[in-house]
Amino acid sequence: MKVNFTETVLRDSNQSLIATRMPFEDFEPILGALDKAGYYSLECWGGATFDSCLRYLNEDPWERLRKIKAKVKNTRLQMLMRGQNILGYKHYADDVVRKFVRHSIENGIDILRIFDALNDFRNIEVAVDETLKCKGHAQGAICYTLSPIHNLENYAKLGKQLENMGVNSICIKDMAGIMSPKEAYDLVKTLKESVKLPVYLHTHSTTGLAPMTYLKAVEAGCDGIDTAISAFSGGTSQPSTETLNYSLIQFGYTTGLDEKALKTINDYFKPIKDKYIDMGLLDSFVLGTDTDALVYQVPGGMLSNLIAQLKQQNAMDKLDEVLKETPRVRKDLGYPPLVTPMSQMVGVQAATNVLLGERYKNVSKEVKAYLRGEYGKAPGEVDPELVKKVLGDEKQIAGRFADTLEPVFDCFKEQLKGLAKNDEDVLSYIAFPQIAEKFLQDREECAATKVTYTITKV
Ligand code: CO
Repeated sequence: MKVNFTETVLRDSNQSLIATRMPFEDFEPILGALDKAGYYSLECWGGATFDSCLRYLNEDPWERLRKIKAKVKNTRLQMLMRGQNILGYKHYADDVVRKFVRHSIENGIDILRIFDALNDFRNIEVAVDETLKCKGHAQGAICYTLSPIHNLENYAKLGKQLENMGVNSICIKDMAGIMSPKEAYDLVKTLKESVKLPVYLHTHSTTGLAPMTYLKAVEAGCDGIDTAISAFSGGTSQPSTETLNYSLIQFGYTTGLDEKALKTINDYFKPIKDKYIDMGLLDSFVLGTDTDALVYQVPGGMLSNLIAQLKQQNAMDKLDEVLKETPRVRKDLGYPPLVTPMSQMVGVQAATNVLLGERYKNVSKEVKAYLRGEYGKAPGEVDPELVKKVLGDEKQIAGRFADTLEPVFDCFKEQLKGLAKNDEDVLSYIAFPQIAEKFLQDREECAATKVTYTITKV
């Protein structure tokens, strides 16, 4: 049996270990080798790459993608997309979502892994539809979380929904690295029995479970896993590509990977890693194993946010109480998966409830929007008392929030005349208005300076 490998060094590993600060020049020389190593796909775009390129690296994310595509001609390029949220946390109008998908594929993306933080698949439908129209591979992702309502039956239902939507494959997305080997085995088995599509698994090494989790998932019939070349593996990143390849081959699986090529890639990245450690960009803390998430049943990132918040308020003695309040808030909100931005919303609300000594005395505007239905439909039942208390007579949104949004792309295009050179620039602006505007302005000024310089020289 073949197990497909998706290499994450350019995206998730880069994001998880060094906040996506790897500039294009640092990986350009190795793209040829990455292309020849036999990966099923290279995850290289989406998530925080856009934000980081524009804000810190002075790179046009679209140009980065085209430059990767020019050197990676045989291996599929993959991106991560938050459905109707594209790359951020707010909902965009359908015309923007469609344009974004179309241009991503035109500029080089082959596989779009599309998810919604609440697993409300009405929020990925448009992105999936456009991907299929543009002849891309639409991978529907299910956010993995633990809760009384997130049982195997529920996941099988979600898998069926994705299959009916027409996706090409399914990914189980365990962003917190909390999926145990047994849970992976049972879940993959259930999904493989309920749908006819390939099933992929994405997890992180954070809690140390990941390599075992992948092995058991593969035993249950998982078609592909996400790994990172060893120099950039482990900790909050993915488990190492070479390790999983080595183990799976001994069990008789085919991986298609070339061990020599993997060594070349890893030898290339080793000094890059050392450089980031010297620069202080890579902190050894993120490379370790942290099992707190298993004890507290909340993702590591959420726990560190909670601790930071309590420290700031000089209320660390309330941590235990807040950790008890967290699952209660989550239940009241209908068990949203603890993924950004829900993890922050639930955490902040739990802390507020404890610190003020009264539950829901203060409710953040995000939680209010959530209760109105602006993020989508909660997986479980939201406490009706809470809805009444917070919303009063205000109406909840019955349908899909994006249905209330007017098309905006052409309007932005008109507004950005002169500054935006193409539709891609307009999309960068819509996704990250302030930083994209600054980036586009700096680009203009830089171009102007270059012209002056050339003229003076002549
Ligand atoms: Co991830």
